[in-house]
Amino acid sequence: MENKVLYSAVQPSGNLTIGNYAGAIRNWVALQNGYDCFFAMADMHAITVKQEPALLRRRTLELVSLYLACGIDPEKCTLYVQSQVPQHAELTWVLNSIAYVGEMERMTQFKDKSRKHADNINMGLMDYPVLMAADILLYQTDLVPVGADQKQHLEIARDLASRFNNRYGETFRVPEPYIMKEGAKICSLQEPDKKMSKSDENPNASVFLSDDRDTIIRKFKRAVTDSGNEICASEEKKGVTNLLTIYATFKGCTVSEAEKEFEGKGYGDFKLAVGEVVADALAPIQAEQQRLLADKGYVSSVLKAGQERAFKAARKTLSKVYRKVGFYQGD
Ligand code: TRP
Repeated sequence: MENKVLYSAVQPSGNLTIGNYAGAIRNWVALQNGYDCFFAMADMHAITVKQEPALLRRRTLELVSLYLACGIDPEKCTLYVQSQVPQHAELTWVLNSIAYVGEMERMTQFKDKSRKHADNINMGLMDYPVLMAADILLYQTDLVPVGADQKQHLEIARDLASRFNNRYGETFRVPEPYIMKEGAKICSLQEPDKKMSKSDENPNASVFLSDDRDTIIRKFKRAVTDSGNEICASEEKKGVTNLLTIYATFKGCTVSEAEKEFEGKGYGDFKLAVGEVVADALAPIQAEQQRLLADKGYVSSVLKAGQERAFKAARKTLSKVYRKVGFYQGD
């Protein structure tokens, strides 16, 4: 039997944090063995908010290199750049004709981003979920691993797939959400009741995968802890709990093992130890990413192979779609 198709994409904008690593990248590496995985750099989504062109291009390569450095195997996984496969834009146009303005206006992320970028509420921003549906549906995807913030968009992809199938006959597989094994939730180092975010305004709140050792250790030293001096996980001690979670995640142990390790120690030593474990874990990944970034030939050959594979699969679905909607395709 063929493997199920699993699809995901990330936007090459902003720096990834250790939260992205623990919650998403690590899972990907595990999933590539059991599924037929497609994984895109969603640069077309990224331009729905203003981007510096040179930076967007560089970040695309940095992100591909990072994923490779983390263990994504380009033999097992189709790793490609969204804008290099024109069917994404083409299918978006067809789906636009069955997507309602009202349902797009209701999307939480559209409303949030409209508020945040009030001077640039462009059509692309509103069409974002339709492009995302096209991404997913082009590959006859079975499963999409999604976090809470993208769940509504996956619902739209499912609705559009069914709507199209009802109107034109069976064409798309209707994708299901893939609920990931509860990864450790990593919170802000400054406000530990908030999720760690790549766009936090406080530079000490998030640890980026690109941070060097000194920066990482400094950020952990400044992390907020709670009153008292006990190093144990609890509802009342959100700061300490977050640090224990981070330690356990990067050390590869459980939170209770971490608690034992720090029994009787002070906050200062504890924070330093967490910073060191994170820095030690990231060092080999960062070194490999740098090595890959310097090896332009290799990275571009990976992306070329990915593009070819994605193109073939996408072309098959799109030509079916064009036939169903009545586009003339030659005699
Ligand atoms: N919108 C997603 C995000 O910002 C990225 C994305 C684009 C995506 N296309 C996708 C995720 C298709 C899953 C499936 O996180």
